[in-house]
Amino acid sequence: MSVITVIPGDGIGPEVIEQAMLTLDRLQLGLEFDVLDHVNADTFLRTGVALCDEDFERVRSSRSVLLGAIGDPRVGSPAYGRGVLLRLRFELDLYVNHRPAKLLHDRLSPLRADSARAVDCIVIRENTEGLYTGAGGSVHPGSEHEIALDVDLSTYHGTARIVEYAFSIARREVCMVDKANAVEFGGGLWQRCWRAAAARHPDKASRHLYVDAAAMQMVTDPTGFDVIVTNNSYGDILSDIASAVAGGIGTAASANLNPERGFGLYEPVHGSAPDIAGKDIANPVGAILSAGLLIGDLGHHEAAAALRAAISQAVAAGETTPDLGGSLDTRGAGEAIRARL
Ligand code: NAI
Ligand code: MG
Repeated sequence: MSVITVIPGDGIGPEVIEQAMLTLDRLQLGLEFDVLDHVNADTFLRTGVALCDEDFERVRSSRSVLLGAIGDPRVGSPAYGRGVLLRLRFELDLYVNHRPAKLLHDRLSPLRADSARAVDCIVIRENTEGLYTGAGGSVHPGSEHEIALDVDLSTYHGTARIVEYAFSIARREVCMVDKANAVEFGGGLWQRCWRAAAARHPDKASRHLYVDAAAMQMVTDPTGFDVIVTNNSYGDILSDIASAVAGGIGTAASANLNPERGFGLYEPVHGSAPDIAGKDIANPVGAILSAGLLIGDLGHHEAAAALRAAISQAVAAGETTPDLGGSLDTRGAGEAIRARL
């Protein structure tokens, strides 16, 4: 029996995670859920603790984690999000942020040219370094002499392993994205690691784009991409563009992985969406597709493929939440998928 830790979190997190759990139950894979539903903004506001050590140990000793969303407008400080998500990513060394973007149905694309719509790419974002480590500081904060410094940190170890992962999963091509023309030292390190990985994988094509050009191309011709590998902040932004051209934030799934340890934290790309929380219109597809990535990584490849097919069919039939043009509520959209399994 594989124990999956579940952290529903805040806002629409619990709403979409309920649908993901019901869908996994339907597949009868013998998964057992350990639900940490007290890890949320209420607890943080009451106790000041984001994720206590005991809960962290429960996560660490489980098979994988399924997470909804962390974030609440009542929480002012970044300590909460850092204390849950970034703690898990950093301390469990989940250095790969694997974000597939595949258009589920032609009508979901915001792009005018049909030739640009068949999006099927994966953004591989470095997940433990870059601008998000918290390294930095400020001098004279609050004054007109304030200096703010956030360090964009790249290590050889961290860069070499993420680029290698990208080549290891690419179907045909890896596109490495950086800003080496302006960000000299990190750029040089990424360039060297990328060239070395390309030389180890002569069977995979490889190219390079600067991040501004990559952003433009993801909008004008996203069909040209297979795997994009880039640093933490560029990956954050490019994966949102990828999810937008692939049908919207409500459908985007992601995995935070440590491939060597075979451990992953799976979550929809979206946040807690306070503007629609409690209205029962949150799209569960991103959470259900994330659960699909989870079972695929546990080796249930047929079930994962069946899940993806059921989602595509429900979307094609228009049985979706309003963000995709349908009129179903969150549970109804989940049921429409389960009915096709
Ligand atoms: P968001 O992703 O929560 O919402 C952006 C927009 O997309 C909103 O208009 C929302 O209604 C819509 N949307 C998002 N998910 C949807 C779904 N499943 N179905 C239909 N519409 C959906 O991003 P936002 O507003 O920037 O952040 C809200 C909170 O979530 C913040 O506290 C933020 O820190 C947190 N957050 C957490 C993340 C995580 O847990 N990994 C990721 C991103 C944001
Ligand atoms: Mg983001």
